[in-house]
Amino acid sequence: MFVSLFSILFYLAYLFNRVNGLPIISNNLHTWWHNNIEYNDNSPVRDSSVRASNIYSVQVATTDLHQNNLYDSFTYMSIPRGGRQKWEYDSSDGAEFAEKTKLTMSWSTFQYLTDVWVIVKLNNSMSTIDSIDHVTIRPITLNFKKELVDSRTIRISVPYRAAGYRFSVEFKKQLFTTYHTNYGPSENTGGQAIHTEPRQALLIFAESIVTGDQIDEYIPNPDIHYNNIYYVPQGEVKNLNIIKETVAYFEPGIYYMPWNYHAIFPTNVHWIYLAPGAYVKGAFQFQSTDNIKVTGFGVLSGEKYVYEADVANNYHHSINNQCWATCVKMLRFTSDYGKEQYLQLHGITISEPPYHSFVVYGDDQTFHMSVSSYHQVGSWYWQTDGLEIYRGSSLANTFFHSNDDVLKIYHSDVIVRNIVVWKNENGPVIQWGWSPRTINNVTVDQIDIIHNRIWWSDIKHNTCIINSATHYDDTESTNTADPNQLIEDLIISNIRSEGMNSCAMRIYALSSIQSITIKNLWIEQWNQLDKSSQISIFKAYEDKNGNQVTIGNQSNDKKGLALINYTVGTTKITKVANNWQDTSVGRLYFDANLWDSWDAY
Ligand SMILES: *[C@@H]1O[C@H](CO)[C@@H](O)[C@H](O)[C@H]1NC(C)=O
Ligand SMILES: *[C@@H]1O[C@H](CO)[C@@H](O)[C@H](O)[C@H]1NC(C)=O
Ligand SMILES: *[C@@H]1O[C@H](CO)[C@@H](O)[C@H](O)[C@H]1NC(C)=O
Ligand SMILES: *[C@@H]1O[C@H](CO)[C@@H](O)[C@H](O)[C@H]1NC(C)=O
Repeated sequence: MFVSLFSILFYLAYLFNRVNGLPIISNNLHTWWHNNIEYNDNSPVRDSSVRASNIYSVQVATTDLHQNNLYDSFTYMSIPRGGRQKWEYDSSDGAEFAEKTKLTMSWSTFQYLTDVWVIVKLNNSMSTIDSIDHVTIRPITLNFKKELVDSRTIRISVPYRAAGYRFSVEFKKQLFTTYHTNYGPSENTGGQAIHTEPRQALLIFAESIVTGDQIDEYIPNPDIHYNNIYYVPQGEVKNLNIIKETVAYFEPGIYYMPWNYHAIFPTNVHWIYLAPGAYVKGAFQFQSTDNIKVTGFGVLSGEKYVYEADVANNYHHSINNQCWATCVKMLRFTSDYGKEQYLQLHGITISEPPYHSFVVYGDDQTFHMSVSSYHQVGSWYWQTDGLEIYRGSSLANTFFHSNDDVLKIYHSDVIVRNIVVWKNENGPVIQWGWSPRTINNVTVDQIDIIHNRIWWSDIKHNTCIINSATHYDDTESTNTADPNQLIEDLIISNIRSEGMNSCAMRIYALSSIQSITIKNLWIEQWNQLDKSSQISIFKAYEDKNGNQVTIGNQSNDKKGLALINYTVGTTKITKVANNWQDTSVGRLYFDANLWDSWDAY
């Protein structure tokens, strides 16, 4: 085979970078590596180390599969509670099942501009792969070409796409099923099957290399921001509250904040850049109310914080009932009343959030954002929500592993598109409830739920794929509605949920409704729970004076709720086919008095 001098030089440069933890860069492919790594799946790693997957290793190659052209792509791993025991508490934190079942989540991110092969090797201690048919890529609709290389190695052909791809690679011998038993979720096959998923997750995030005009938009340019970039020194970080610059730049390397500290940036800081290969253990809080950015393909990890690390309790576990205002969030923003503010969130991976990962305080009507190529992994605890998408905002091309409400569509003029979700048991995928709201013009499109372990032993009001939960003040009350608020023109389309599922939708209307359209909701199959616990619910609540919310509007001919091409397996659910009932495959148990307010066709 002809090997050019250039490729030999390039390979030498590659080896040098590989050894020195620098990004490995060719024109069409960026991968990276870390120096201080620990292959450890059961205890916290040293502050100065990064946990590497002890199960998978990943390489990427452009077209030529010659050994010299395979680039190592660092494969990170998250484990429940970062390998700690419960720390100064013994109440439930949501990670019990994941710990008991020894779940791990590995991931590898690279950037590319051309079609590539992704090579995945299993550690020698893992069972061999009998056939390439025992390997599943999810979402299954991606249909990537895959080949067996040897008994522990496969390769996957990943085409270039500007929007990138975020997918899971799954090996048959690592799948396990969760069952519902009298003692809670369990691997004990005596119960009813809830969901099947890999014990050792592997996610691949193939993201575009930033090019053209995007370079200055997403990567701080020293020529433009001269003297205004603070290059954070590697190692321990605890001085960020007083820096003078406008940009905090994390170059490739490992950074760690103390467990009882998070960065509260002064108002002058409005851009955080995490270079590919930067790994930051800590959390960020902005005080700037100007336009802000969080960009780059580095990692922000909450692994050092305890579950519900409460600033009001010196970062120990919260001792209050709830700590919405005072627990550490991975990303926290401040918005001024009446002052328009725009956040650009591009790239970054948030791992092991100890609580809500993203919250805005102040005026949520003037805060807008554009989020893309964002990843959330290792969401073992309760309350590890996805994102609240503020008014006039967009969210696209993103992956969420989440153990609570994932996509919170509480505001108008929002577009959410092309999202991959891996769902743990708590909370729904799409949420617009918890209080009465006025919302219009929301599009949620192309949501691929690759795993859905949503489960509860009773009929929860804050669950299912689509949900408008009852009022947070009094979740049992039916008179918490406000009929004067109106939710209008919500289009939720192309929602696919792979594997076994518990339930489709629970809508407790706390506001009046016009034109909510759910189109092409596909559920691969129901799990084995009783039909009565899989019901979809639709109820119209009242206010304190007994006034009920209105569903639809006869004067302008706007309907209430339309289910268009709702499909379970291969069965399309329609009113006419009479297969919608709770005891039938549609599992709809909508209030009888709403019969004229919804349709399924
Ligand atoms: C492979 O797995 C073994 C057993 O868990 C572990 O000791 C070893 O560190 C792993 N090797 C790598 C490279 O991950
Ligand atoms: C609906 O929201 C989108 C996204 O913010 C926006 O571009 C569009 O102008 C809005 N449509 C109307 C009629 O306001
Ligand atoms: C209806 O949904 C099924 C299952 O997702 C899909 O295959 C089919 O294309 C959809 N039909 C239309 C007309 O969109
Ligand atoms: C119902 O439609 C009529 C006619 O367009 C409109 O005047 C009225 O405000 C609508 N009611 C609500 C609650 O939106």
